[in-house]
Amino acid sequence: MRTAYGEGVTAIDEALPLFPTDSMEFSLQDLRDARDKIQRIILEYTFGLREIETKISILRDEFLQMHDYNPIEHVSSRVKTPDSIIEKITRKNIARDVASIREHITDIAGVRVTCSFVRDAYRLFDLLTAQDDLSVRLVKDYIAKPKPNGYKSLHVIMDVPVYLSSGKLIVPVEVQFRTIAMDFWASLEHKIYYKYSGQVPGTLLTDLKLAADTAAHLDAHMERLHHELHEPDAGAPPAR
Ligand code: GTP
Ligand code: MG
Repeated sequence: MRTAYGEGVTAIDEALPLFPTDSMEFSLQDLRDARDKIQRIILEYTFGLREIETKISILRDEFLQMHDYNPIEHVSSRVKTPDSIIEKITRKNIARDVASIREHITDIAGVRVTCSFVRDAYRLFDLLTAQDDLSVRLVKDYIAKPKPNGYKSLHVIMDVPVYLSSGKLIVPVEVQFRTIAMDFWASLEHKIYYKYSGQVPGTLLTDLKLAADTAAHLDAHMERLHHELHEPDAGAPPAR
């Protein structure tokens, strides 16, 4: 069987269901086995996360050294909890085996890179996605094409190699690049969305869209000022 570990390397049998049966009668051992499999996946994705965090911190440190400029405001990362993985398996009707989880849940490991300016978000995206040990699985550019609610961010799912005692494993990591203003908006929208369990009143939705437009204006304004400061004779900043 071909596993995520590559040909000829034996690992846990990833095609087997997490639970041996779909009935509600599990033995204690069944539950322990399922828990162990999920913990194993989470650990592997944590390693993928660390690889990306290291790459981003190298880019930041080198930028500071070479250009005396830090394009990153902050970086946060998280791995999904077992509860959240199980909730997503159920919500998206994904088969309950490790192979399907690997294939369909690509945001178990997530890194969020918050930049001062839109241009920096794209610049970091370009630098990270150009690294030849990583490969890009999917890009969603919600900065160029915001969601109808006003959400903006640049998302990429990258396949990251992780070297384990059993061999090379490829894990997907979701990286989101955004500005401080986009991040401020998204965290407020997220709180409102949960407060109303997804049924946000229409007037609030309109207000949120207005706030997203204001945030976008602020981003454009700040970027113009920044450009003036650093390259006063160069005209408008390059459009992206
Ligand atoms: P999920 O299944 O929710 O992960 O979304 P998806 O697979 O459709 O992918 P998408 O790229 O649209 O969203 C991935 C992640 O981006 C989400 O988990 C959120 O962190 C963030 N995100 C996407 N849309 C919104 C939004 O409208 N508001 C906020 N606050 N965050 C969003
Ligand atoms: Mg997600």
